[in-house]
Amino acid sequence: MSRLLAPSILSADFGNLERDVELVNDSVADWFHLDIMDGLFVPNISYGFPVIKAIAKKAVKPLDAHLMIVEPDRYLATFKENGVEWLSLHYEACTHLHRSIQHIHKLGMKAGVALNPHTSVLLLEDILQELDYVVLMSVNPGFGGQSFIPHSIEKVAHLKEMILKRGCSCLIEVDGGVTEENAAEIAEAGADILVAGSAIFKATSPMEAAARIRAEANSQPN
Ligand code: DX5
Ligand code: ZN
Repeated sequence: MSRLLAPSILSADFGNLERDVELVNDSVADWFHLDIMDGLFVPNISYGFPVIKAIAKKAVKPLDAHLMIVEPDRYLATFKENGVEWLSLHYEACTHLHRSIQHIHKLGMKAGVALNPHTSVLLLEDILQELDYVVLMSVNPGFGGQSFIPHSIEKVAHLKEMILKRGCSCLIEVDGGVTEENAAEIAEAGADILVAGSAIFKATSPMEAAARIRAEANSQPN
């Protein structure tokens, strides 16, 4: 399988949202990554359902929502109703993670768990078999445009080892500080999906930046 690229709409120009959604549609990118922040779990507020609905209306590629919110269970069904296909919750925000994952599946979405940089992949030992993907945060969640935390490479490799050992089909998504320069190394460590926000939308040519990052990610053997 090719490694996938999921542009983070957080770095798009919200005054030209339709243009930026079309840009992703027309690019080589595979998914839309939607960062949902509540000002409680993370020190920033991003956007909510009216914006997600507007994106869903124009998007021709799957929507991947990354919930950086407390009590995510309250909103799972609403994400489904708004067109989200891949939904990730933070390990640090869920008391009954197994139940939440079951609920996401029951609603007909793919389920993922996101881990903050300080959270060990070992904590996924007893949930990994239930997951469609894991989102490894390679920056502290809350803001776009931060620098990649180098230790994340080891976490990717470690998680990949756990997945292979169990023979499960869980994918690894890496989120934060992904650039043209580090995409190959992240992919080589075992990532299947790369999220990139500022490296795409702040580039002179977002289209070309997306193509270069995706090509870098696929320059490594699987
Ligand atoms: C951070 C978000 C990321 C972020 C990525 O909280 O989860 O998805 O928008 O943006 P860049 O690629 O700029 O680090
Ligand atoms: Zn994200």
